[in-house]
Amino acid sequence: MSSQRSARPSASDPEGGGIAILGAGALGRLWAARLPPTASGFVPRNPSALSSFRLHYHFRDSEGREHAVTRPWLTTLSDVTLLLVTTKAGDTLEALEQVIGRIPESCPVVLFQNGLGSQQAVAARWPARPILAASTTEAANRPAPDRVVHAARGHTWIGALTEPATDLVAGIIRQLSPSGLDVRGEVRILERLWGKLAINAGINPFTALLDCPNGEILESRLFLDSIDALCEELANLIAAEGLPPHSPRILRNDIERVARNTASNTSSMRGDVQSGRTTEIDYINGYVANRSRELGLTAPVNQMLTDRVKELVPHPSN
Ligand SMILES: NC(=O)c1ccc[n+]([C@@H]2O[C@H](COP(=O)([O-])OP(=O)(O)OC[C@H]3O[C@@H](n4cnc5c(N)ncnc54)[C@H](OP(=O)(O)O)[C@@H]3O)[C@@H](O)[C@H]2O)c1
Repeated sequence: MSSQRSARPSASDPEGGGIAILGAGALGRLWAARLPPTASGFVPRNPSALSSFRLHYHFRDSEGREHAVTRPWLTTLSDVTLLLVTTKAGDTLEALEQVIGRIPESCPVVLFQNGLGSQQAVAARWPARPILAASTTEAANRPAPDRVVHAARGHTWIGALTEPATDLVAGIIRQLSPSGLDVRGEVRILERLWGKLAINAGINPFTALLDCPNGEILESRLFLDSIDALCEELANLIAAEGLPPHSPRILRNDIERVARNTASNTSSMRGDVQSGRTTEIDYINGYVANRSRELGLTAPVNQMLTDRVKELVPHPSN
């Protein structure tokens, strides 16, 4: 690969490839590192402020092997064939507003955000575009600005959110398959996102408030005093949404099992609080509280956890 190119990289550039990644953080860099070097590039936040046409970082794979990664910043997006959106939930709509007019109308947009709320907002804003959501259990973190660690292998499920995306899932899976990551189609993607949200709602805020790894929440007074009511609020909302019912007891068992299986992990919410970054609480427990209100239910425990996490670091007001 030449490092002396004068042309501005585009997605049709043989070095740029057809996959554009919006959000050059932990998850976006994981995908770029796993895809072949010529297959993808990153969408810059502000193309005119780029000091280099390439992004360099060190990648540690899930087996502990390290290698250097160099991928282009894409300044031309007219030939992009797939857009992976790996911004945080709260940044996604605004980030896409800047970019969507520059990609072809037929280009599928795959949203990787945790929680719920941001996906529906994007699908409602661009219903005629092929918008999809992904739910992934791959885990990546960024211990330093130029280092990304693939902390755990997992699975990624992709499903359509808008009608024009319905028949595109198989093609997207084919485009992502050179990554070697496990990617599957999911017809009921909202149900899958709900399942992950429920687990995150029962683990993440406790780890952030108690500043502890996942497993330690299980013995804490805060968790023991609120988990049953939290699971009841989740079960009531899941039923009101018309999704397959979950009993509060099964939800609690699932939350406790995941917390035990990931006992030494630091949740993304705890990590965000430790670094003073805005958390995704508005799209997890905050989503449960707001959506419950919209459907005439109450969710005081989810609201309390949302309010308390938002006191830890500044969050934009809703
Ligand atoms: N990491 C994981 O293992 C994982 C697993 C499952 C799901 N997810 C979900 O994936 C999403 C991303 O997670 P992450 O851990 O990768 O977060 P992250 O490391 O914070 O990365 C987000 C990236 O988006 C960039 N960004 C924000 N606004 C932008 C804009 N307008 N234009 C271009 N780039 C913009 C940020 O740039 P700045 O740093 O300059 O702000 C940052 O590099 C989250 O919703 C998370 O819940 C992550």
